[in-house]
Amino acid sequence: MIDIKKVGIIGAGQMGSGIAQVCAQAGYTVIVFDQSAQAVADSFERINKGITRSVEKDIITADAGEKARTLLVPAASASDLADCDLVIEAATENEDIKKAIFKAVSEHLKPEAILASNTSSISITRLATASDRPGKFIGLHFMNPVPVMKLVEIIRGIATDAETYEAAVRFAESLGKITANSQDYPAFIVNRVLIPMINEAIYTLYEGVGTVEAIDTAMKLGANHPMGPLELGDFIGLDTVLAIMNVLYDGLSDSKYRPCPLLVKYVEAGWLGRKTGRGFYDYRGDKPVPTR
Ligand code: CAA
Repeated sequence: MIDIKKVGIIGAGQMGSGIAQVCAQAGYTVIVFDQSAQAVADSFERINKGITRSVEKDIITADAGEKARTLLVPAASASDLADCDLVIEAATENEDIKKAIFKAVSEHLKPEAILASNTSSISITRLATASDRPGKFIGLHFMNPVPVMKLVEIIRGIATDAETYEAAVRFAESLGKITANSQDYPAFIVNRVLIPMINEAIYTLYEGVGTVEAIDTAMKLGANHPMGPLELGDFIGLDTVLAIMNVLYDGLSDSKYRPCPLLVKYVEAGWLGRKTGRGFYDYRGDKPVPTR
């Protein structure tokens, strides 16, 4: 079975940065690649801040933090991933983009390398067909914020071999995470349950049942959720929430998964949540203010 020492990350956004951080904190050498060099530079800044935070929170020692910083390497091209034992794709939640990445990267990898996708909803079986190694292809779905959340969902495609699955479980556990297995159906477990709840909260707002504040307060204090559903939607990114609703709607052909028109409107406006400064809350001032 492959001994994972070097990990490649493709996509240096919020999730890719978080995954790179936890891998480096666990002692892996991490190669970070993104088609935008600026995204890689921004990612390293985010990861450095994250490592400082992990030290402050006593998640890791100061020495482990310093060591982690030395293990992170920016990549200039996909060929820099050539000697990675595991490559985790964490690009945007778009099937065509992900497939194009797997097609392009496959030729650079050594034959025994494992390819994983951090997709939060798209079929692992389908994504695997774009690679040259469906047997060594698996879903490793991290939760946001990666350095804080304990879970990694593990999703086997129809062709994923037993060795790859076992290596993936051991790898996730070596990061200090707990795994849950999901069958390869649209949005897996967490997002099959969580994202329709957020969509329903948006319907609750759309239909005037409650205000943004009332809905979030109700769910925080009435159901003990750490964040209200609208706040959480902004945190995840409303474009991602919409993309996952569409995967559920298309993949399960059930009208109960239709995206709320108000969610569509926010995404069309470019009000995607925290990352764009505005979603169901406006984050541009000192404290978040509801946008309706
Ligand atoms: N390294 C990097 N970032 C860190 C970190 C670390 N060691 N520790 C915390 N963070 C980040 C968080 O992302 C957040 O960012 P900013 O404040 O910089 O904007 C911030 O630091 C919050 O950290 P706090 O120290 O204030 O942590 P907290 O104790 O207040 O808890 C929380 C925050 C863990 C996010 C909590 O509110 C929570 O559990 N919320 C729900 C999160 C959730 O449900 N996540 C799952 C989303 S669904 C998903 O991920 C699946 C998907 O595919 C869409």
